[in-house]
Amino acid sequence: MEFTDFEHDERMIARERLPEDRDEKSLRPLTWADYSGQKQVTDNLKIFIEAAMRRGEALDHCLLYGPPGLGKTTLAGIIANEMGVNLRITTGPAIEKAGDLAALLTSLQEREVLFIDEIHRLNRSVEEVLYPAMEDFALDIMIGKGPAARSIRLDLPRFTLIGATTRAGMLSAPLRDRFGMVHRLELYKPEELKVILKRDADILNIGIDEDGLDCLARRSRGTPRIAIRLLKRLRDYAEVRGGGVIDRDIAEFGLEQLAIDEMGLDLTDRRIMSTIAEKFLGGPVGLETLAACTGEDAGTIEDVYEPFLMQCGFIAKTPRGRVLAPAGWKHLGLTCPKDLDKRLTGMGISMKGSSDPSQITIDEMIGKKEK
Ligand SMILES: Nc1ncnc2c1ncn2[C@@H]1O[C@H](COP(=O)(O)OP(=O)(O)O)[C@@H](O)[C@H]1O
Ligand SMILES: [Mg+2]
Repeated sequence: MEFTDFEHDERMIARERLPEDRDEKSLRPLTWADYSGQKQVTDNLKIFIEAAMRRGEALDHCLLYGPPGLGKTTLAGIIANEMGVNLRITTGPAIEKAGDLAALLTSLQEREVLFIDEIHRLNRSVEEVLYPAMEDFALDIMIGKGPAARSIRLDLPRFTLIGATTRAGMLSAPLRDRFGMVHRLELYKPEELKVILKRDADILNIGIDEDGLDCLARRSRGTPRIAIRLLKRLRDYAEVRGGGVIDRDIAEFGLEQLAIDEMGLDLTDRRIMSTIAEKFLGGPVGLETLAACTGEDAGTIEDVYEPFLMQCGFIAKTPRGRVLAPAGWKHLGLTCPKDLDKRLTGMGISMKGSSDPSQITIDEMIGKKEK
């Protein structure tokens, strides 16, 4: 494991919540008006919410998936707010026993929203309680032991479950099937991030001009959480090195200090790419091997690094492993081996998509762009 100065940079770009994100709450939009981007998801949700409101019903259960920091928790808050109900928040690993979930469910009010973050980490016995709860708004409870045991059914209020996950592929099929709608959040476009950054800079009272916004938005890996973190960090550079306003010079200087390149890639991204290039001649290399060689956790590579690198077209996922695509070689300033394409074709791999249909579904679910 390499630490030293890497650690600092990796933390800057990490998509997970960090202690320095604590004022995230004050920045979290509460209404549609303040929630930028994800148009397809929000357009649909607005209609479903309005329809549910008119009928006086609870909204259908809803699964949100996509890489960390794209606004899943925020969206759950807006949905509850728009429905005019409470939001109850918990996470998959926090619900240890079936009884914990039963207690939670029976305490819900009619039409309330229950948000379960990291829902792919629910354990099976807890998940089984969720099935009848989601489907029939009922709880099956066993009373007594042995031959005298019998099951009774308790009615639950009609509630809405919102599940969030970075790994839709890890959800069991019966659980996935019980969601009335499934929404995948996409990485944001720079223009959308600019709107978010502008709003947040105003709230935090940070001076930033158009060029500064532009620079930051292009180098935040399409992720609001990273954009906000960089904004706050660049403010320090602006105050110490500039006139207090983040302009192009300050933004470029600051990002260079943080080792974030012109595409928004950090040292770990580049290490993942150069490992594939140098140790595996372009790949394919399996996820676990890549993790071992880069000192990263396989899950982190899959959830945090890969989606963006795939979106950039720098790496591709094949049934045999990860491949460094020609654009990736170019970005590293390396020459793509002439035989890469031929080698891959020889292995039955096409760079355009995976030849194994089951792989496509999983890839697609963790946010790979359809080609
Ligand atoms: N569409 C958006 N518009 C404005 N701000 C957003 C949006 N999505 C996310 N954010 C900001 O990014 C932060 C992280 O979002 P969050 O909902 O916690 O992500 P996730 O739950 O997917 O990890 C939020 O605090 C919010 O300020
Ligand atoms: Mg969240």
